Amino acid sequence: MENRAAILGTGKSVQGRAITNQDLEKMVDTSDEWITARSGIKIRYFTDDQTAASDLATEAGRQALEMAGVDGADVDLFIVGTVTPDFAYPATACLVQHNLGNKKGAGFDQETGCSGFLYGLTIGEQFIKTGKCRYVLAIGVECLSKVMNMQDRGTCVLFGDGAGAALLGPSPDGKSGILDTFIKSDGSLGDLLKQPAGGSRMPASIETVTNNLHTIHMKGNKVFPLAVRCMEEAATTLMNRLGLTGEDLDVLITHQANLRIIQSLQKRLQVPDDKVFVNIDKYGNTSAASIPIAMDEAVRQGIIKKGNLVMLASFGAGFTWASAAIRW
Ligand code: COA
Repeated sequence: MENRAAILGTGKSVQGRAITNQDLEKMVDTSDEWITARSGIKIRYFTDDQTAASDLATEAGRQALEMAGVDGADVDLFIVGTVTPDFAYPATACLVQHNLGNKKGAGFDQETGCSGFLYGLTIGEQFIKTGKCRYVLAIGVECLSKVMNMQDRGTCVLFGDGAGAALLGPSPDGKSGILDTFIKSDGSLGDLLKQPAGGSRMPASIETVTNNLHTIHMKGNKVFPLAVRCMEEAATTLMNRLGLTGEDLDVLITHQANLRIIQSLQKRLQVPDDKVFVNIDKYGNTSAASIPIAMDEAVRQGIIKKGNLVMLASFGAGFTWASAAIRW
């Protein structure tokens, strides 16, 4: 018999220096007006030199465990979605496992870009459904400030650092929890958003560092329409499977990449304004961390309430896209 998986606790960590649009005006040829009008972002956080992805992920995970009342030692599986791990290896998930005092479980990372949290949620759900795991900690974390070209105004104003986490476990009543999930990818679009150097295709060299090839390279205006279309496909696929319309949703949380992308998607899905949770103004695009950070804030602010129908939708490098429908 299948066990339904539910989110038992959430957490987030955003640390470091708050960088305003005015701060960025002093670094590149940009303006608060341009950034606000084109993206909706006002502030993002850059971690300091001593802080790495596992530090943020551990804190977010600790909060999720605390909300659920579960000990870190009892987690069966740690899944971290990130494109900015502490190291190429070992996996950040294993570092988090150690930090949270766990010896019994397993851990791995996956690099599905901004869909990293929803891919982790989807994988974790399968392990709980089959009874292989009782508790899965799904985390999305990024320290994107460490891979940003601060001379490229097309990217450096958009991204920020942070982590968000959800502890998954068996549904307390068998009815609430994750109703359905969807994941998809299309590798033909990979060149539109990538970090060219540092892997086996283009190993680190003096030349790659000099030419800023270890940083985010993005064709933003090509990504924009794809983001809207793919997240629409992800959300409508689940809505069709579950027989839902936009009006049935209590809370819609999409990947926080650009306010205009969120608004276009909201219009296509016909979800009213007061059902859409947005916090891109406060954190920028934190990639894999954006959905779990938003979800944690919505839960702690009482916007997501018990019994609510919540739709999550993401889009990211790969390209990857994903969604989850959750009865809270
Ligand atoms: N400040 C001022 N001007 C800037 C700028 C900045 N930070 N960045 C780019 N510009 C300029 C461009 O050089 C261009 O100038 P030009 O017309 O003289 O050539 C102009 O602004 C328009 O650029 P464009 O890229 O067409 O703007 P846009 O309306 O598409 O907005 C993004 C740019 C990046 C905000 C937008 O395309 C976007 O958000 N794309 C999706 C990115 C995304 O979601 N990525 C993550 C996916 S997970």
